Amino acid sequence: MFNGQTILITGASSGIGEALARRFARDGAHLALVARRADRLETLAKELAGKAAGAIVIRADLLDADSIPRVIDEACRATGRIDVLVNNAGVGEYGEFASQDVAALERMLQLNMTAMIRLTHAILPDMIARRSGRVLNIASTAAFQATPYMAVYGATKAFVRNWSLALWRELELSGVSVTCVCPGPVKTEFFDRGGYQERRGEFTRLACSADWMAEKAYRAVARGRVLSTPGFVNWLGAWLTRFGDAKLVTRVSAKILGPR
Ligand SMILES: NC(=O)c1ccc[n+]([C@@H]2O[C@H](COP(=O)([O-])OP(=O)(O)OC[C@H]3O[C@@H](n4cnc5c(N)ncnc54)[C@H](OP(=O)(O)O)[C@@H]3O)[C@@H](O)[C@H]2O)c1
Repeated sequence: MFNGQTILITGASSGIGEALARRFARDGAHLALVARRADRLETLAKELAGKAAGAIVIRADLLDADSIPRVIDEACRATGRIDVLVNNAGVGEYGEFASQDVAALERMLQLNMTAMIRLTHAILPDMIARRSGRVLNIASTAAFQATPYMAVYGATKAFVRNWSLALWRELELSGVSVTCVCPGPVKTEFFDRGGYQERRGEFTRLACSADWMAEKAYRAVARGRVLSTPGFVNWLGAWLTRFGDAKLVTRVSAKILGPR
């Protein structure tokens, strides 16, 4: 499906991004792997040599606005264009809002929203001019309701979901597709940072693997789906939020996410 195409994946050094790189490699795509931990990306690129058409490592901190043009330049080197942009890099700060570190929250806002906007805004004009391209944004089931104790994280994911939907509509006749995938819990390094220590086991007990989620995200973008919430329980939970009173839904969300 993506043979010979260039796929730019942010956050490819672990978790869902790394699994997506492996999935796209099976199609013989060119991969542009972006993250801060270049050693991880180098190891992945070596593993994928022979499967992917090529894999280049782009060490970048996406909080730095100056990194965006360099990331795009380097990603375009193989084929002169980016066919699929995967906006996956993200972090999730956990805790009671009033006692959270505001600097960490600001970094999360920058990464989960601003970096995604900057990268997409810089790449889209070329896709529109070619009347071809795909954007895959990774949101979360946290996008469907307020998430007490992950208050700011959930709001960033609601932003990603709403922005993706609006972008899909604006680009509907342009030849460029926009797909937003909303994963539920996935066993990745996500829960190693962001203050989950005490709840890690509980949050990951029913979590799926990164490979499973990546396969679902791959299929969603391949089919040009607009919104995808993989997994029946995740889908049902997201669907049910439509019918509950907002305060009730938020109380249930707090029961699930709050301290024991
Ligand atoms: N795991 C879950 O349960 C879950 C559920 C719903 C949604 N999601 C979403 O899925 C996406 C991927 O998360 P994951 O679960 O795969 O977590 P992960 O294993 O922690 O991966 C996060 C990725 O983001 C990269 N990253 C973090 N800060 C960065 C920065 N400043 N610049 C560039 N890259 C940066 C990390 O690479 P470096 O540290 O090397 O830079 C890493 O590759 C996120 O958007 C997350 O919100 C995850």
